[in-house]
Amino acid sequence: MGEKPAILGGKPVRTEPFPSWPVVKENDEKGWMEVLRGKDWCRSSDGHFATQFEETWAKTLGAKYCVVTSCGTTALYASLNALGVGPGDEVILPPYTFVATLNVILMQYALPVFVDSDRETLQIDARKIEAKLTARTRCIMPVHLGGNPVNMDVVLEVAKKHKLPVIEDACQAHTGEWRKRRVSTLGDLGCFSFQASKNLNSGEGGAILTNDPALHEFCKSFQNQGRGPAGAAFQYARQGSNLRMTEFQAALLLQQLTRVEEQSRAREQNAQYLTSLLRQIPGISPARMYEGTTRNGYHLYMLRYDKAHFADLPRARFLEALEKEGIPCAGGYTPLNKEPFLKELLNSRVYRTIYSGPEIAAWEERNACPENDELCEEAVWFFQEMLLGPRRDMDDIAEAIRKIQKHAGELERHS
Ligand SMILES: Cc1ncc(COP(=O)(O)O)c(C=O)c1O
Repeated sequence: MGEKPAILGGKPVRTEPFPSWPVVKENDEKGWMEVLRGKDWCRSSDGHFATQFEETWAKTLGAKYCVVTSCGTTALYASLNALGVGPGDEVILPPYTFVATLNVILMQYALPVFVDSDRETLQIDARKIEAKLTARTRCIMPVHLGGNPVNMDVVLEVAKKHKLPVIEDACQAHTGEWRKRRVSTLGDLGCFSFQASKNLNSGEGGAILTNDPALHEFCKSFQNQGRGPAGAAFQYARQGSNLRMTEFQAALLLQQLTRVEEQSRAREQNAQYLTSLLRQIPGISPARMYEGTTRNGYHLYMLRYDKAHFADLPRARFLEALEKEGIPCAGGYTPLNKEPFLKELLNSRVYRTIYSGPEIAAWEERNACPENDELCEEAVWFFQEMLLGPRRDMDDIAEAIRKIQKHAGELERHS
């Protein structure tokens, strides 16, 4: 503890790496080789492994139907199409999310309407959704960011009152639960990503969950170029696209899935312990969970950093010092509602054809998210794989933060 910070030439708290990701075992190879040798690499209409994974994942989550896709982005894209979201419509989303949540709305030429963040949980502030609704609102897209469930009681109440469908972006929340129900099964549609960093992964991949047979039929057809339920090669029920998952991805997911529960429990235990340590450090506020959360999926371990308790040491310098102590970390997202590309797009020829000048001009004002602006300045993330090792790894994280706090004045002077 008395030691100089590593960034100033001292000995780092930790030199050992945290657990690596993904975890690969023999059973992963088995499924993969079966696909390779079987030579049916594309699922076409009814891939063996893709169908098996759809049935297993739906059962695991307690949903009636699952449709797998090439990635989380295409799962969200198909879901918006299933609800008929298009030009002239408004879609509610949080500003604190990965850009894909926004991109899929723009792919439909709809207007993204941002609802400010709740800084304590780092989630959409569901109590502020209703004030953002207009006659044009077509859908609500909450995101269970980092695996921490959104306040779904409030989201579902507002949705019901205004007869609006809900697409849950559960891309980061594979084992998240709200009042003992798995997230993704609470709204009309729920979407997952199986991209490389995710807690269940096959490099790339996605899934849509629903209990509605009509939405299921639509998504199944849409991801396969609009083919009908029988899957006949050149018969089409609707416009569609190729969003198909490969058999390789599905086979790998089936094997990776055998470890999800155990890994998830390990993360939960470590996260709980880490929170107990970090709560004792002034200026460090671990993300709070809403009262209805029965399980956090911990794709990220998120907290807020208050530099006032660290001799005004800027967050960027804090993160740099933490990295040098051997603790991987990140500052997270920047405000999505303020992305320059978004402003440019809204003023593009195509958007100007759909939306009036005054409408676009008013958009910026309607979409101010002051709480989120602050959140983007103070958030700190640790990654899911860091929660997979022994408990003493959590002690190292806390020790490194305490060490930086102790030397914060000195670090600030050397900035
Ligand atoms: C919140 C969120 N939504 C959507 C996506 C998109 O998923 P994918 O990368 O699989 O397309 C991601 C993935 O990073 C995500 O984190």
